[in-house]
Amino acid sequence: MQSSSQGLAPTAAAALERGLACNLDDVIMTVGLSKTFPGGIRAVESLNLTVAAGEIFGLLGPNGAGKTTTVGMLSTRVIPTAGEACVGGVDIVAEPALAKQAIGVVAQSNTLDRSLTVWENLYFHCRYFGADKAAARARADELLAQFHLADRARADVATLSGGMAQRLMVARGIAHRPHILFLDEPTAGLDPQSRLALWEILHGLHGEGLTVLLTTHYMEEADQLCDRVAIMDHGRILALDTPRGLKASVGADTIARVATTGDPAAFAAALAAGLGDGARTETGDGAVTVFLKGADGVVPRIVALADAGGFAITDLSVSEPTLETVFIALTGKELRE
Ligand SMILES: Nc1ncnc2c1ncn2[C@@H]1O[C@H](COP(=O)(O)OP(=O)(O)OP(=O)(O)O)[C@@H](O)[C@H]1O
Ligand SMILES: [Mg+2]
Repeated sequence: MQSSSQGLAPTAAAALERGLACNLDDVIMTVGLSKTFPGGIRAVESLNLTVAAGEIFGLLGPNGAGKTTTVGMLSTRVIPTAGEACVGGVDIVAEPALAKQAIGVVAQSNTLDRSLTVWENLYFHCRYFGADKAAARARADELLAQFHLADRARADVATLSGGMAQRLMVARGIAHRPHILFLDEPTAGLDPQSRLALWEILHGLHGEGLTVLLTTHYMEEADQLCDRVAIMDHGRILALDTPRGLKASVGADTIARVATTGDPAAFAAALAAGLGDGARTETGDGAVTVFLKGADGVVPRIVALADAGGFAITDLSVSEPTLETVFIALTGKELRE
């Protein structure tokens, strides 16, 4: 943890003196950050992470993992019960109002103001953050053009499609030009086309240097969008690395799933013996999964071993590790159950 107070906002320097080393390089930093809700539900337990300026950082985990609670604490909506965190060089517990100025938030649910038009949602947000009328007008117009919503400017927000509403929420999230954008499940419930459109937008914002923390339970989203990903379950981070690093941690680059007639355990033993060093097998759901290094000739070798052992193959698929594979390896369960 860096502890230089040079160049920090005075409040961040004050936080530093209290022991929390907020700094502007790690734009998000948490130390033992925890939230236990009344009734004893431990939603987030001792979260330690740092996010560097300009990163797209992903929290990947299933329902109830603690993703929204984490975003809630970092965006000052939820008060931590233990631990500390800095966002944009500011201690979020000591200086929540100041921290809020550095961040934009796109919540998991639709939080657009239904009594306002599309344009007014942006205009009043800018006014709320201190822009004068002319500047707020100009910014609202600019954002509607940038997010391809200009033709809906006067529309009621209730008439927007899910994808349009989500684009408007992102536009509103960045309207006051925050340094950090929190996106909680930004593409949940969107059709594939709208999801891709939103990914494009996020790539663009990333290119402009915005730091993004997003939560998702879509492994493809974490894999394709994020520079680094923390895999979360039951309020804890189980692994944290680049998507490539996480997938490499599985220790295999080829995964074959084979269903045959006969006893899966006997077939697994035949495969382990026949495929040689480095091949690891698991049985479950009536099939054998083999983890291998190298994909060359895998299918013919498996077919030959099945033939030799008198097993008839009923299903065979070969794939590369995904973040889902990593999650299963860590927890023994699938991301979406
Ligand atoms: N206000 C609250 N009061 C009590 N318990 C809560 C509250 N908010 C969340 N929880 C509990 O905390 C845990 C984490 O919830 P959270 O919403 O952070 O998970 P999540 O990862 O965002 O899940 P999802 O993918 O469903 O959005 C869950 O067990 C949830 O029931
Ligand atoms: Mg959530």
